[in-house]
Amino acid sequence: MSALETKKVLEEKLSPVVKQAIEFSKTSTKGRKFSPLSPHSAFSLIDSTAETKQKWSDIGLEAISKGEVGVILMAGGQGTRLGSSKPKGCYNIGLPSNKSLFQIQAEKIIKVQTLANEKHNTNAKIYWYIMTSKPTRADTEQFFVDNKYFGLESSQVTFFNQGTLPCFDKNGEQILLESTDAIAQSPDGNGGLYKAIHTNGLLEDFTNKGIKHIHMYCVDNVLVRVADPVFIGFSIDKKFLLSTKVVRKRDASESVGLIVLDASNNRPSVIEYSEIDPKLAEQKDEDGLLHFRAANIVNHYYSVELLKERIPKWVDNQEFLPFHIAYKKIPSLNSEGVFEKPTEPNGIKLEQFIFDVFKDIENERFGSLEVERSEEFSPLKNGSGAANDTPETSVANYLDLSTKWVKAQGAEVDGKVEVSSLTSYAGEGLESVKGKKLENLQIV
Ligand code: UTP
Repeated sequence: MSALETKKVLEEKLSPVVKQAIEFSKTSTKGRKFSPLSPHSAFSLIDSTAETKQKWSDIGLEAISKGEVGVILMAGGQGTRLGSSKPKGCYNIGLPSNKSLFQIQAEKIIKVQTLANEKHNTNAKIYWYIMTSKPTRADTEQFFVDNKYFGLESSQVTFFNQGTLPCFDKNGEQILLESTDAIAQSPDGNGGLYKAIHTNGLLEDFTNKGIKHIHMYCVDNVLVRVADPVFIGFSIDKKFLLSTKVVRKRDASESVGLIVLDASNNRPSVIEYSEIDPKLAEQKDEDGLLHFRAANIVNHYYSVELLKERIPKWVDNQEFLPFHIAYKKIPSLNSEGVFEKPTEPNGIKLEQFIFDVFKDIENERFGSLEVERSEEFSPLKNGSGAANDTPETSVANYLDLSTKWVKAQGAEVDGKVEVSSLTSYAGEGLESVKGKKLENLQIV
């Protein structure tokens, strides 16, 4: 089919839906009724006893040792705010070791796999499925090849691409053309994950490999506990089909999405910070904590059973994965047929959101686990020098956590140290530093 024919077919199919999405975006979402998740769903690691954490960790490590755990990494974003020419995962944030985000995460997988196999005397593997997009695929794959998969076996790593959606003009009528023989397209958002799992045959691959549990996370979190046995064990123990990690919202004005219960259907949902009334956002509970505090960090557990059953229903279904619109500057042919890089938004990019399917999960099969932000979440969003979520904050948070771990073991530190993911997954195995004097920026 020529680009013009494709354009016509897609316009007929999608234009009505895009127009609907435009109208929907104009209606205020304020006034939606919601409450925090029920105690049946919402748990906190911060308040949990050491025994409970140990129990969940044991369950998770056992699942890993049986080869039942797979990991999905979302790495299809273009990192425009960071401003790096390479995919975010390749970025050297500036740790003493100069490790990239991909390397830190690969080494976490190696470490937790070793911990599980040593405990159970097994030889299981954690398979890592890396979602890329057209703009990030080639560089990402090459980076893994150049770095010998960071010590993983190449057969453990699968790259798969998320899809694209056509870019429309501002009215949602016409699809923009990138050239006379190509329509303008953009990645379909983090909600494109589900379709990508479906179209790339991953559900069959999970079955063939005996994978029953998936940990999914975003590439830009330097503190992420990849294949976290505690989170996986928590989800298995509670028989949740889908769970999400959350951190405490810092204060009432922090711009984060919140995991809540939607009163209209009694199902889990995410509300954006703009949707919550400031008075409600400030409400505190009897412990002095924000009533609405479950900040979404896009870090999920999925049972494979759920994905197999529901993904075929979710994909291409506007009820579960509606289009969201964003007005953007889209390089394309102008009305005279001349290619232009606009300086003002000239069209619409369509995106699907990963959390839109939460409404399909029965309340009692959905879990949320609150974790300590300083131990598990430090996103890299912006370039050096910005106010927050920069390479500098990523490094500072990583080194602070490492330093806390070694000090807890009785080491003396002159400044900060970096604990390698290969040395310790989550603070364990550092007994040898006891009584030692460690230098500033030493790698342990
Ligand atoms: P963000 O939207 O926060 O960041 O994605 P980004 O796309 O990397 O950067 P900006 O917005 O252009 O500055 C959060 C996570 O979701 C993934 C990203 O790779 C990141 O891990 N993501 C986002 C995808 O995998 N695909 C997408 O289409 C969008």
